[in-house]
Amino acid sequence: MCGIVGYIGNKEAQDVLLKGLSRLEYRGYDSAGVAIVRGTKIEFDKKQGKLKTLISDLKDAPIKGTLGIGHTRWATHGIPNEVNAHPHLDCKKRLAVVHNGIIENYQELKKSLKREGHKFLSETDTEVIAHLIEKFYKGDLEAAVFKTLKLLKGTYAIAVVHKNEPDKLVGARADSPLIIGVGKGENFLASDAPAVLDYTKEVIFMDNHEVVTLTRDGVSIKDFHGRKVHKKPSKIKWDISQAEKAGYKHFMLKEIFEQGDILSKIIDERVANDRISFGELKISERAFKGFKNIAIVACGTAYHAGLTGKYMLEELVRIPSWIDTSSEFRYRDPMVDKDTLVIIVSQSGETADSLAALREARAKGATVLGICNVLGSTISREADGVIYTHAGPEIAVASTKAYTAQLAIFYLLTLYLAKLRKTISDKRYDYFMSEFKRVPGLVNDLLSEYKPEYNALEAYAEGFKRYYHQKHNKSTFLYLARNINYPNALEGALKLKEISYISAEGYPAGEMKHGPIALIDENPWVVCIAVQSKTYDKMLSNIQEIKARGGIVIGIATEGDREIMHQNINYLIEVPKVDELFSPLLVVIPLQLLAYYVAREFGYDIDQPRNLAKSVTVE
Ligand code: F6R
Repeated sequence: MCGIVGYIGNKEAQDVLLKGLSRLEYRGYDSAGVAIVRGTKIEFDKKQGKLKTLISDLKDAPIKGTLGIGHTRWATHGIPNEVNAHPHLDCKKRLAVVHNGIIENYQELKKSLKREGHKFLSETDTEVIAHLIEKFYKGDLEAAVFKTLKLLKGTYAIAVVHKNEPDKLVGARADSPLIIGVGKGENFLASDAPAVLDYTKEVIFMDNHEVVTLTRDGVSIKDFHGRKVHKKPSKIKWDISQAEKAGYKHFMLKEIFEQGDILSKIIDERVANDRISFGELKISERAFKGFKNIAIVACGTAYHAGLTGKYMLEELVRIPSWIDTSSEFRYRDPMVDKDTLVIIVSQSGETADSLAALREARAKGATVLGICNVLGSTISREADGVIYTHAGPEIAVASTKAYTAQLAIFYLLTLYLAKLRKTISDKRYDYFMSEFKRVPGLVNDLLSEYKPEYNALEAYAEGFKRYYHQKHNKSTFLYLARNINYPNALEGALKLKEISYISAEGYPAGEMKHGPIALIDENPWVVCIAVQSKTYDKMLSNIQEIKARGGIVIGIATEGDREIMHQNINYLIEVPKVDELFSPLLVVIPLQLLAYYVAREFGYDIDQPRNLAKSVTVE
């Protein structure tokens, strides 16, 4: 949802800003721009389309200067074009602003600014910020920003420069993420840490309702009342190379292949002598023993991880657990109270709806546990306790490794709670622990089958594309599963639709007869997850029902399963044998790869699919 950067130092700002934007492009990529203070002027360049268009334009006509701001956009107000691209300037082009978020009262502000004679160029909400700062500017940029913020309603992270103050970069934050990179003789602002990691690992996470004024040698943070706030930088532990492709064609493929190692790292970090501990967790054992119910709240892929978590928790901890999407939870007066543990799952830790759900839950007295990937993210800081997934930066918009890392945390949390609340025998606990420890190796074995230049899933994807064209582009996908793999059916469908734009639905296989079976003719390809489980026979019956109606079936089965061979399925994908409880971690791998290869067959932009952004910081 838009990435912003700001730089003040001695380097050419253009280079720093473009590099920073390239690390933030996952947040939005429909247009990009920079504004740089050059001598006594502000110069800017904005281009519609991906960042590379802006980069090539600036190569031909660079803007010199050591203070500037930049933006990569995911459009909310106004179509993606050059005029609506950020930065936005005031009437006299003396100041420039970049913004991530939504100004909810921009229409009334715009009306009154227009009455006062301000001239607007764009359809964006952001432009009102530039004109308000212009209105209040009396030689002190920080003071004008403070006055402006008093009038804004909504969410924002902003960065502002003024041509009269070539030694100042001002930023502010209300609900959209903003970090400060602290350097030597230079300082940075950005939506996310990767944007500054080429230059510094010292980062200050801004809190809500804070304003920062950066000079080349100083960082001054104040709250919205103007009171000084003292903060120490944190050191980012990971390296920028983790945010690079390492020879893979796409980030998504690289991230899929990282999953075995991430799972093994999670187990190594959290399990010692078969005892589970969550170092950073601030919720006490006593509190964990006392909860009467668990509510899991999340969006998209994180929701699917949470849904799997619900199956695990109910089965092993025997505690009533329910799940809701954050956007529903926040508006329906949910029944949570001091006896409820609310688990918010979020890779970015910044998703606007999940953050609002967290605040709603806390306001009702519930204890909130965040399962987050991004260190220092808002959800991780506002929750009562956090368990980090430590999956490293996830750059591809379609989430893969964050999902399996979230599942791994749910397995650990489930076993931890089951032991603590004495709902599991020692024997069963030991068995599950030893099964879980086998999973990273099995995931790596499975992935090694797909490493060669050409593999079965690529062939299936090719086959699908041919079929799709034969059927006049009418083919769709249906994903069916039961029990703990049902969330994987939803996840497989989500992966496919978000990167290949092919209609795909996930369904609990038992619901087939209640509607979706009407879809079955020779058009849809039906992915049936039929690994060894207590509902295996039922899945075989579902496969027969599909075959009887002419459907094309891709079966996902356990290695060595002979019965599946007699089902007349069209394509077979095998996954290693493991206890049913852990099978989602294996089943999801070919689902992710299938989506990847289908999108690649169709030639789509896999890492940056249309209309999406990685971090959804607006409602
Ligand atoms: C799908 C995907 C999204 C996110 C969702 C929640 O591949 O990435 O569905 O899972 O937007 O994002 P987080 O986990 O950052 O809250």
